[in-house]
Amino acid sequence: METFYLSEPYLLCSVDKKINIHETAFVTAFFRAGDSGLSGDKHAHLWANPIVANHAKRYSSAVSTYEDYAHCLRNRYFYDTIKELISKESIEVLINFGCGFSMYPFLLDASLRYIEIDKADVIAYKKEKTEDWQKEGLLPERNITFLEADFNAPSLQDLYKQLKTIKSGQRSFILLEGVLFFLGKSDTTKLFDLFKRLQGPEEFMASVSFQPQLEKQGVFKKLIDFVEGNLEKNQQFDYQTVPDSFYKNIKGYTLVDHQDTFNLSTRYVPENNLPFEEILNEHMYLLKKNVNT
Ligand SMILES: C[S@@+](CC[C@H](N)C(=O)[O-])C[C@H]1O[C@@H](n2cnc3c(N)ncnc32)[C@H](O)[C@@H]1O
Repeated sequence: METFYLSEPYLLCSVDKKINIHETAFVTAFFRAGDSGLSGDKHAHLWANPIVANHAKRYSSAVSTYEDYAHCLRNRYFYDTIKELISKESIEVLINFGCGFSMYPFLLDASLRYIEIDKADVIAYKKEKTEDWQKEGLLPERNITFLEADFNAPSLQDLYKQLKTIKSGQRSFILLEGVLFFLGKSDTTKLFDLFKRLQGPEEFMASVSFQPQLEKQGVFKKLIDFVEGNLEKNQQFDYQTVPDSFYKNIKGYTLVDHQDTFNLSTRYVPENNLPFEEILNEHMYLLKKNVNT
C-alpha cells in the first residue's frame, strides 16, 4: 500500500506519470503541516515525506506559492468553527465527505463521533496508518467510523442507508472540503440531496468551492494547466466552480456564514497583504438546516 501511494508522486517527477485524484490528499496534508500554529493541525506532519514534499513544491511553484498558506487558513476556519459548535453542544457527530488525510478527529473533542468517508484506497490507508499511530501513542483514541464511497457512483443510496444507521438521529456537522472541484454537476446534486435527506432541523453543513469569477484569473488557468499535465482525471471531472447562488438557494437550509481566503487571512494574520492575482481564492460556506423542514 505504502509503495503504491508514495511511489506515484515520485514517478511523476521523473517520468510522465499522472497522479490520481485521491493522491491530492497527501499534498493538502503537507500544506497544513507547513504552519501547524496557523492551521491548528499538529498531526498533519505524520503524512509528510520527501516525495510528497517534492510534489507539493512542484504544485506550488506551478500554480501559486500561497497555496500552503491558503490551506492552513481553511483548516483553521473549520477547526475553530466545529470547536465552537461542540462547546455549545450543537453537534454530536462530524461527517467528513472526501476526508482525505485531514486530522479533525484527533484535534477535536473525544466526546464527538466521527465518520470519515473517502475512496477505498484513502480509507484503507488512513485507517491502517492512524491505528498504527494510536498504538504508538502518537494519536489519541477516538470514536471513528471509516466508510468507503465513490461520489461518482450512479447511486448514493447504499451510502445513505449506511449513514442513516450510523448517524442514528444524532445532530451532525457535514463537511465537504477540497472535493467539489473534482466532481461534476450531477454528482454534486446527488451528494447535496443525500445531505438533505440525512440531516434533521438545525444540523450544519459546510462546503468549499471556487467561484466562477475565478475562472478568468491567470492563477486558475495555471491550476488547469497543472491538472491537465499531472492529474489522472475521470469522466465526470470538469473543473467545477460554484456560484454563491447555489448555496443561497439550497431548499431547507440557510446560509449562516461565508468566508474566503482573503477574509480568513485578515482574521488570522492581519499583517499579511495578499496579492490578489496570485491567490487561488477558495470560498467556505456554512449552512444550517431550517427548523421547519
Ligand atoms: C484535495 S483532497 C482534500 C482532502 C480533505 N478534505 C482535506 O481538505 O484535506 C480531495 C479528496 O476528495 C476525495 N475525492 C475526490 N473525488 C471523490 C469521489 N468521487 N469519491 C470519494 N472521494 C473523492 C479524494 O479521494 C481526496 O481525498
